[in-house]
Amino acid sequence: MIILKMLKDLKLEEWTRENPVWFSEEVLKSSLWEKEKEILLSLKNHNEVAVRSCNAAGKSYTAARAVHWWLLGHKGSIVLTTAPTGRQVREVLWREIREAVANKPIYSPESVLETKINISNRWFALGLSTDQPDQFQGFHSPYLLVIVDEASGVEDLIFEAIDGLKPNKILLIGNALRNTGRFANVFKEQGIAKIVISAFDTPNLIASEFDNFEKFKEVWLKEGIKFFENKNKIVIPGLITLNDVIKFAQRYGIDSDVFRVRVLGEFPRAEAESFISIDEVNRAMSREVQIMPHWEKKMGVDVARYGDDRTVFIIRQMEKVLRKEIFIHQDLMVITGYILKIAEEENIRPENILIDVIGIGAGVVDRLKEQGWNVNGINIALPAKDKEHYANLRAELGGKIKDWLKTGQLLKDDDFFEATNIKYKFTSKGQLQLESKEDMKKRGLPSPDVFDALGLTFAFPAGMQEIYYPQSAGGVGQYYPEIGI
Ligand SMILES: Nc1ncnc2c1ncn2[C@@H]1O[C@H](COP(=O)(O)OP(=O)(O)OP(=O)(O)O)[C@@H](O)[C@H]1O
Ligand SMILES: [Mg+2]
Repeated sequence: MIILKMLKDLKLEEWTRENPVWFSEEVLKSSLWEKEKEILLSLKNHNEVAVRSCNAAGKSYTAARAVHWWLLGHKGSIVLTTAPTGRQVREVLWREIREAVANKPIYSPESVLETKINISNRWFALGLSTDQPDQFQGFHSPYLLVIVDEASGVEDLIFEAIDGLKPNKILLIGNALRNTGRFANVFKEQGIAKIVISAFDTPNLIASEFDNFEKFKEVWLKEGIKFFENKNKIVIPGLITLNDVIKFAQRYGIDSDVFRVRVLGEFPRAEAESFISIDEVNRAMSREVQIMPHWEKKMGVDVARYGDDRTVFIIRQMEKVLRKEIFIHQDLMVITGYILKIAEEENIRPENILIDVIGIGAGVVDRLKEQGWNVNGINIALPAKDKEHYANLRAELGGKIKDWLKTGQLLKDDDFFEATNIKYKFTSKGQLQLESKEDMKKRGLPSPDVFDALGLTFAFPAGMQEIYYPQSAGGVGQYYPEIGI
């Protein structure tokens, strides 16, 4: 409020308009690191600015400051922000927008709402979700700024609707998750201001003395992880750190698409080698699906095969993965105990517990059966049901995961990105074959146990063709036509 008055009285509006960095630092009291400043200055100087970066580079933080800068620098302005899902709009960018002005005498308290700042009915900022393109209509202002967060995930239809508004300025920010779509194309176009931020440009990595990828790569390949102990320095909490980079290097390899996208801010390779893409996993993590409490839950258990491996439990209720558990260094009896405990907690029927029987998994299944639990042992090395298309059951289950990712919701848990490590090929008979755990180990990558455990939740023992979900209170009964294996 006070600032708004000052803007009117002291003609600070024009000063603000010309000085976004000053505005962020002096009015919002938000200090910025170099690339964050560059984003704001580019936005002042150009009509269209696109920023792609590693994870946690400060894009949303900066875009939030840009919202206030535009509003307070232009009387009668409108800012529209959007992102692929409603949750991303509310909980990512708008959380930063609200926090940037919390406890500061800028707007009157009643004008700052969850996804709106309302100075007047012709002067406001508003968060829109992208599920309804027709929302992007009817906004008229001499000063219209549109900000698209997580722009890789936004469909071209929405961009067309945004173009229809003829904004004065547009800011696109995001991770470079896929090679297609408007966000990817913008980086091939002339005349648009582009900013790329690698983790090695960011303050925490610079403070840790790893300010370029080549240097990191050399040390990583020569010295390995031990060298990096105690090297992590944090100067701005929340931004990507050297430890994060190491985690990505270890889990996915420095040549992987995940490393390219999430550490270097690059697009994935054009020729996908991976069976499942980062974009597919990311979309499933961002999605919000509705499930009914009475729908059945499946538990897939990928049992450790050798002493040092992990046992992974995944619980999926139709379109939603509800829970992931990892246990390390456990013996058969302990794993059996966990299965019973989790099945009880989650109310899962024995036949919906699907356990990998290669290695000690077989013992786990026997032990549970002895105790009267008629669980299902699944051998993913056996032939697929659909032998024409899949080399074995593991590939077939992988195919089901890939289909399910189009509509399902994953937990927001980085472990699911391990699926993107798995390469694929076709056999001489044209069947899909997935890279084996052993081959992945040879490439220095961890075995994709979370992916395999999720795959098991799609395995159906012979005879179980479909499940009837009883009618819910007031709801509609339905068949879930899952194909039997
Ligand atoms: N200059 C800064 N000062 C203090 N905190 C900051 C600054 N820049 C970013 N942060 C904090 O760092 C964290 C990561 O920033 P932000 O979410 O903006 O990154 P991002 O690039 O949008 O990440 P993602 O890739 O996940 O979208 C947030 O908690 C944010 O508040
Ligand atoms: Mg962000």
